[in-house]
Amino acid sequence: MTRISVSILNADLTDLKGVAATVQRSGAEMLHYDVMDGCFVDNISFGLPVLQSLRRCTDLPLDVHLMIRDPLRFAERFADAGAQLLSFHVESESDPAETVREIHRCGLRAGIALSPDTPLERLCPYLHMLEPEDFVLLMTVEPGFGKQSFLYGVLPKIRALRSRMTAECLPLHIEVDGGINAETAVLCREAGADLLVSGSFLFRAPDVREAVRQLRGGEESFR
Ligand code: DX5
Ligand code: ZN
Repeated sequence: MTRISVSILNADLTDLKGVAATVQRSGAEMLHYDVMDGCFVDNISFGLPVLQSLRRCTDLPLDVHLMIRDPLRFAERFADAGAQLLSFHVESESDPAETVREIHRCGLRAGIALSPDTPLERLCPYLHMLEPEDFVLLMTVEPGFGKQSFLYGVLPKIRALRSRMTAECLPLHIEVDGGINAETAVLCREAGADLLVSGSFLFRAPDVREAVRQLRGGEESFR
């Protein structure tokens, strides 16, 4: 079962309610919210107040992706603001084990994110801390901006992680993020990803519901 998380980074943010309605109408399972602090990545997006406003516009799960230097310090505040899934980068300055524990303490699903050049080995000490329904987020573009081209070189990493999860009976999800469209979605699904983030492809599509269906490979939404 493939699930879709819609990134609103490049949506028309003059109309947050309209954006939330579009995501709801799309049949996607969740809304992807990219938080950037201008330190961990070279861009600043949106933070807690906008998430609180968005929370009031939709009942879809909010999949918050922290691209910030110190995620541990902010996990609880993002939980309070309405996140259900919270991912942070293993390359950040926070201790990953402590950050996973903090996200669990707040009652959220935890995700550990890896930038394209970060080897899977960086995950090793933490993979077994993740619980069923937690996830690993593999970036398929350099974090920081939407509308970039998919990095095909990440596909072997997706495959290797899925094999490892299968071999070790880890019931975790693999989320991929960046440059996902109808063509790259197939490759990611075949490689073992089951949670696909997509932004610009969906917001450019003439029929967002049909575009989400394409990302799933024709499967109907179960919502
Ligand atoms: C990049 C973000 C992505 C991005 C996806 O740093 O994490 O979530 O918004 O956007 P598209 O689908 O345009 O690559
Ligand atoms: Zn993201």
